[in-house]
Amino acid sequence: MSERSDTFATPIAQHARHREAGIRTFFIAAASAALVFGGSGAVTAAVTGGMVAELAEAPPIALPQPVDRPTIGATVQPMPAEGLPAPTFDVTAAGTALCDDPDFLRTLESGDDAAVIDAAGGAETFRSMIATGTAACIPLDDPTRAWVVVNKQRPFAPNDYTPFPLAMPATVQSLEGGELRSDAADALDAMAQAARAAGAGDIAMESGYRSYATQQTTYRGHVGDRGVEGADLVSARPGFSEHQSGLGADVVACGEAGCGTIDELAATTQGAWITEHAWEHGWIVRYLDGRTDVTGYLPEPWHLRYVGPEIARLYHDGGYSTLEEFFGLPAAPDYAS
Ligand code: DAL
Ligand code: ZN
Repeated sequence: MSERSDTFATPIAQHARHREAGIRTFFIAAASAALVFGGSGAVTAAVTGGMVAELAEAPPIALPQPVDRPTIGATVQPMPAEGLPAPTFDVTAAGTALCDDPDFLRTLESGDDAAVIDAAGGAETFRSMIATGTAACIPLDDPTRAWVVVNKQRPFAPNDYTPFPLAMPATVQSLEGGELRSDAADALDAMAQAARAAGAGDIAMESGYRSYATQQTTYRGHVGDRGVEGADLVSARPGFSEHQSGLGADVVACGEAGCGTIDELAATTQGAWITEHAWEHGWIVRYLDGRTDVTGYLPEPWHLRYVGPEIARLYHDGGYSTLEEFFGLPAAPDYAS
C-alpha cells in the first residue's frame, strides 16, 4: 500500500474532492509536510480536514434531474470505418438477417459479449451494423454490455443502475478503495502487469466504480468550484458517468515516492505506455485531447474505459478517437436539458 492509499475517508467523501490544481497542490503540500513532520496519521488529518472544510463551504447545488433516455435507434448516423477497408457485404441485409436469426438472439441473451461479436461476423461487421442502424437488436444502451455507450445524451436507465459482479483488482492498488466490474478488474490487472513487464513502471487506480450517489457528491463538488458550465466539462452528472458502469477507471502512475495525481499521468512513462498499449488489454482512453466537441469533456488521459479486447483492437486499428464516432452516434457535447 502506498502512503496515499491510507489517506482517504469514505469513497463518497474521497471523490468529493476535485481535480483542480489548487486542491492537488494542497494535497501534495499537506501530505508532504505531514510525512516529513508527522507520519501517516498527520497525512490523514491534513487531507481529510481540508476536504471537510472544502465541502462545508460549498453552497447547496440544485442537481439537474435525470432525463428520459433518447430513442437510440432513431439517432444513429452511418459513419465509415476510419483507416479500415469498407465492408464488402451488404451491411443492411446482414444486420437485418442477424436480428432475425434465433441462434444469434440466443447468443445475445447469453450475455457473452465476445460470443455476440463473433456471431455477428467479427468486430468490424458488428460495428458497421450498429453504425448503420441495421442491427437494431444489439442494445448499445445496455449497461451490462462491454460495448455500452454512456454520454451526456445517453444516461443509465434506471439512473441508479449498479453493475454486478464488482471486484477489487487483485494486484492493482485501488487508492480510493473503489472496485470495478470483475471483467474490467481482471483486465486492469493484466494491463498493469504488462506495463510493469515492459519497464513502464507501476500503475494504480484512483477511482473505479462510482454509484449514482457518489457521482452526485462528486459533481456537486465540481459545481461548487467552477459553476455548472465548468463542472460539465470535467465531471459527469449523476446517472451519466461511465464510472457508474463499473467499466471506467481513473489511473495514476506510481513510483518509489508514491503515486502521482491523475493530472500528472500524461507526463509519465506509464501515461505514454497507456496511450500506446491500453487497447491490447481491452481499454480505450475515452476523453482525448481535441475531441470535446464530441465527448463533451476536456481531455482526461487518465480515464480508461473497458470495452473488451475485440472492440478495443478495432478502435485502435481503425484510428478512432471517440466511441460516439466508432458506433456512428451523434456527438454529445451537451445534455438534452
Ligand atoms: N470525469 C468523467 C467525465 C466522469 O465524471 O465520469
Ligand atoms: Zn474517470
